[in-house]
Amino acid sequence: MKRLTIPALRARKADGETAEPLVVLTAYTARQAQLLDPHCDMLLVGDSLGQVIYGLPSSVPVTLDLMAAHGAAVVRGSYHSVVIIDMPFGSYEASPAQAFESAARLLKETGAAGVKLEGGAAMAGTIAFLVARGIPVCAHVGLTPQAVNVLGGYGPRGRDATEADKIMADAKAVAQAGCFAMVIEGVVEPLAAAITAAVPCPTIGIGASPLCDGQVLVTEDLLGLFERTPRFVKRYADIAATIGEAAATYAAEVRARTFPGEDQLYRAKK
Ligand code: KIV
Ligand code: NA
Repeated sequence: MKRLTIPALRARKADGETAEPLVVLTAYTARQAQLLDPHCDMLLVGDSLGQVIYGLPSSVPVTLDLMAAHGAAVVRGSYHSVVIIDMPFGSYEASPAQAFESAARLLKETGAAGVKLEGGAAMAGTIAFLVARGIPVCAHVGLTPQAVNVLGGYGPRGRDATEADKIMADAKAVAQAGCFAMVIEGVVEPLAAAITAAVPCPTIGIGASPLCDGQVLVTEDLLGLFERTPRFVKRYADIAATIGEAAATYAAEVRARTFPGEDQLYRAKK
């Protein structure tokens, strides 16, 4: 099977009523990518890896080095899904030139197809600059976690009309700038639906609306592997419990000297 392309993903929206929603999950490692790849259209190497696998308090400290290393692992572990890498905080906001340098590095070092960056109207010029120079960009509007120090938390956005109007304007600006898709995170449902109806590119919702053109979740959240449970997460498995049980059984067997058992032992040749 050939790898999906960004134009093919983008074109799905043109199918209107019959369009299949885009299935997106985060992936940080090669093995995770291998397991998710057959079921997804896009794998997102999210900067959420800062909290989820490095125990950081937010995504703000995540570096370009980390994103490049995990991005390369996810590309190596997948052959079907489009792989998109988050641009970390501080790697793109200063200027379009800074963004190009960072994004080009990610694409060259990983083989990923495109990047994602946070921000609305303020980032439109940067998005247009990257797209004109061969770098597909997924935008990210609504709740933008890299701005946690300005927002003061991770609560839902767009609850009052002024903020909803601003997020709608952000979405239109990034679409106009040429993003191939946009993540809409943590907004009231009617706003996500209205943005989806208003923009020509696919919208990918997280804590948004089933009317978005696709959905994304952090894989560790849906697996029950990370301790947070925001309202928008649905747990499809309880892997934390499975890991705890396996470790407890192993510990008991080691202490009882019943592991390793007969099947795990090497014997001399007769
Ligand atoms: O970093 C991330 O995982 C994300 C998704 C939740 C959209 O940006
Ligand atoms: Na992110």
